[in-house]
Amino acid sequence: MVNYQEIISKATDARKNAYCPYSGFSVGACLVCSDGKMYTGCNVENASYGETVCAERVAFLKAVSDGKRGFCAIAIVGGKGEITDFTYPCGSCRQVLSELADSGLEIVLFNGSEHKICTLGQLFPNSFGSKDIK
Ligand code: THU
Repeated sequence: MVNYQEIISKATDARKNAYCPYSGFSVGACLVCSDGKMYTGCNVENASYGETVCAERVAFLKAVSDGKRGFCAIAIVGGKGEITDFTYPCGSCRQVLSELADSGLEIVLFNGSEHKICTLGQLFPNSFGSKDIK
């Protein structure tokens, strides 16, 4: 059972570590593994902009590199300064998430006052993946 308030809080804390001198848009994420362990991430930008890594991907790569497989939920909190809007995962992150998690992964978004939950399958239908490579 995922504690949504807890993972939103951890994502909000992780956001404080964002390295985002170019956009000023800081993002934090908290990923929950099937065994209950949690991994946080923040965005890490680069002067060569395309080398920027999003918060969600940092959280996933930390978990996978720690040997984790199987994921329940990921909270994402982002904005410039105070959180006022939901931050949805970018297209590149949706592709990476779909490689590593199933379509039932819960994506927990927070706008500073309310959260909403959608699934990866809802955000990224008809995705291209390993099933398509034969
Ligand atoms: N960003 C994330 O970390 N996650 C998202 O889902 C959306 C975008 C980051 C990338 C970049 O550092 C900044 O937000 C502005 O695009």
